Amino acid sequence: MYSQLLGTGSALPRRCVSNEELVHELAQRGVETSAAWIEERTGIRQRFIASAEQTSSQLATQAARAALDAASLAARDIDLLIVATSTPDMIFPSTACLVQEQLGCRGGAAFDVQAVCAGFVYALATADALMRQGLARRALVIGAEVFSRILDWEDRSTCVLFGDGAGAVVLGLGEVPGIHANVLHADGSLASILRTPGQVAGGRVIGHPFLTMDGQAVFKTAVQVLDQAAREVVERAGITLDAVDWVIPHQANVRILQATIRRLGLDPGRLVSTVDQHANTSAASVPLALDWAMRSGRIVEGQRLLLQGVGGGMAWGASLLSVSRAAS
Ligand code: UT7
Repeated sequence: MYSQLLGTGSALPRRCVSNEELVHELAQRGVETSAAWIEERTGIRQRFIASAEQTSSQLATQAARAALDAASLAARDIDLLIVATSTPDMIFPSTACLVQEQLGCRGGAAFDVQAVCAGFVYALATADALMRQGLARRALVIGAEVFSRILDWEDRSTCVLFGDGAGAVVLGLGEVPGIHANVLHADGSLASILRTPGQVAGGRVIGHPFLTMDGQAVFKTAVQVLDQAAREVVERAGITLDAVDWVIPHQANVRILQATIRRLGLDPGRLVSTVDQHANTSAASVPLALDWAMRSGRIVEGQRLLLQGVGGGMAWGASLLSVSRAAS
């Protein structure tokens, strides 16, 4: 049996902030940047920012409801719920348990996966493995983030890059793929190039609680590992790169996406890019882009999708899947 994609959904905070608005807000804090720099260096034109009250679990629940609707299923049909997030509502319980409660479905397994911007691909591979082992029949896999909470708004090299949001997929089991193959990797020796090193201890935040990044080191690693993971996953799936219809990488920087497509020798028209609309939403970026491409009618039944994640850890991975009739 194979895991099959039954439906997708996504959710964005109400507040959309254009580069121009952000530049204006940052100028009031004495932070100098420009809309032109942001767009030229990253491809980002806008991002969505959650209100102070809105949490990852709320965005995740909204995205999950949309995915369940698309799959024509009810929350009670779900027996596995995985949320990929690095911005959970609280230390515990897991965001997945909070989403389970908000959806009103009880009893199935629910847990979080923490692999930063590779989180959704890690969660998808985990759900696929559990389902193929017979531990679940229908899964919700969600990426949800409120990265705006961990940004240092005085650090122009990072605060212009990220946004908030959530994306979700519903998986079921069937006799044809579905998910053909997954690959997951990490290199913890690169932990320091992208991290939010603070922690809560003794009732206080110890260490730096904001995201820090060596942008160029992350950029170089991302381009290299996205290329490797793509080649490895198509080989595991027993197909060639030419047979991939759509490449949906983690949406960090359009220059990384374009470099990846170029290195793989693929037609740029096969790239799904939403970084202009959403900015970098970490674990939410791949399912947000997937849902956008499904709902806009770009992705149709029978097509093969290459999903790719890369981020803090560094952690990275890829999934190769065919779109079943139920999802298209
Ligand atoms: O989600 C996890 C994965 N994350 C990523 O994949 C991010 C990977 N990295 C990147 O996307 C890029 O490295 C950045 C977008 C972060 C930076 O782009 P870059 O082309 O590597 O720029 P840079 O860091 O080399 O900086 C170039 C210049 C510097 O000025 P000088 O030293 O040349 O005078 C920076 O100070 O741009 C300056 N700069 C800015 N200028 C205006 C940096 N941030 C800004 C800014 N506005 N916001």
